Amino acid sequence: MPDRFDLPAGFRWGAATAAYQIEGAVDEDGRGPSIWDTFCAQPGAVRDGHTGAVACDHYHRYPEDIALMKGLGLDGYRFSIAWPRVLPAGAGPVNPAGLAFYDRLVDALLEAGIAPLPTLFHWDLPQALEDAGGWLNRDTAYRFAEYADVVTDRLGDRVPTWITLNEPFVHTVFGYALGTHAPGHTLMFEALPAAHHQLLAHGLAASLLHDRGLEVMLSNNLTPVEPATQDPADLAAATAYDALHNRLFTDPVLLGRYPDLSALGVPDDIFGAIRPGDVDLIHTPGLDGLGLNFYNPTRVAAPSDPDLPFDLVAIPDVPHTAFGWPVVPDTLRQLLLQLRDFYGKALPPITITENGCSVDAATTPDQPRIDYLATHLDALAAATAEGIDIRGYYTWSLLDNFEWAEGYHQRFGLVHVDFTTQQRTPRASYAWYRDLISSHKARRTS
Ligand code: FCB
Repeated sequence: MPDRFDLPAGFRWGAATAAYQIEGAVDEDGRGPSIWDTFCAQPGAVRDGHTGAVACDHYHRYPEDIALMKGLGLDGYRFSIAWPRVLPAGAGPVNPAGLAFYDRLVDALLEAGIAPLPTLFHWDLPQALEDAGGWLNRDTAYRFAEYADVVTDRLGDRVPTWITLNEPFVHTVFGYALGTHAPGHTLMFEALPAAHHQLLAHGLAASLLHDRGLEVMLSNNLTPVEPATQDPADLAAATAYDALHNRLFTDPVLLGRYPDLSALGVPDDIFGAIRPGDVDLIHTPGLDGLGLNFYNPTRVAAPSDPDLPFDLVAIPDVPHTAFGWPVVPDTLRQLLLQLRDFYGKALPPITITENGCSVDAATTPDQPRIDYLATHLDALAAATAEGIDIRGYYTWSLLDNFEWAEGYHQRFGLVHVDFTTQQRTPRASYAWYRDLISSHKARRTS
């Protein structure tokens, strides 16, 4: 069996974070409010009333954090740019101090020999745009393209590859359908215009970035979907869920068409959101790489509630992370093979842009995280041996950080953060990852 040391030479080793989860400094240097500032202020929205106001204070401590990355021997670092830092009102005047922060960050990464891989939107929409309808408003897609233009005009000379959006599935479902994330709407399937407008934003920005000679990726959260049984009702529910979670955000980009969502009661024009020519705008720019955020498989059964199209059910007899997510590493290999079978030549090279696990703060010496990372990397090596083109792996996450509705309760970091003192303490998984990276490089070059 191939293992992680068999991953190809030139494989890019990285770690990932996101702006609102680590930066803090929400009121500094002219940053405007984001939907997450507003959401966190609502009683009961985030566990224990935690907020990202300070988070890891990365805005001030980024040199220390880059030193931690350098200590790991990382090739690349995935981070996100806070739209409300650059354009405090979402559109209109640029905030030079906000842009200057990312300028410094990029220069410091390059100085440390680490390639920056920025994401333009990781869920922190400027509140002013939410006040105008957020992603339910088609105009937000055009505002995103303007924002992408401003940022890449400044940083595109040093940063060749860009991720447009992070996990539009999760943002749409948690933020607009269920209301458990910002902006907190509970529209159920009527949330889906927000999905189309994000994809349109991706397409408009991708075309502009390509005109600048930059490479474009999209990071999707994908999950292998397994039916609870072979009963036709379970199979139909699994197909409906797969269309929603996986294909809705990938088919338009790679194939130039939307999947059939009729089993979910969603009309072909997604409640009037799709206009003639839109799907071409999403598809035509093409994708230079697919970012895959992978955490776990999903088991789906026929609905117990007749108003819903499916039930998500537990996967028994497998380990679960502190977050309660099932750990079944070989399903990552299976997913990669399914993607190749389904998309064929339309599938671009893949980069794992997130993968990791939260471990109970009390667990020492961090063995569940090491096991999680090792087994998922072995699954990647197995997929590579079966011919899948995987270019890199960005573990989630460098640091413990603000885990959205869970606040600071889920600890995903290779580095422990004490949120009272801001003390960073590398965990056993940090040393493990560092040693893996250096042994992999030594073996592939010897
Ligand atoms: C992903 C998010 C990321 C982080 C991890 C645990 O869905 O993209 O910000 O919260 O989950």
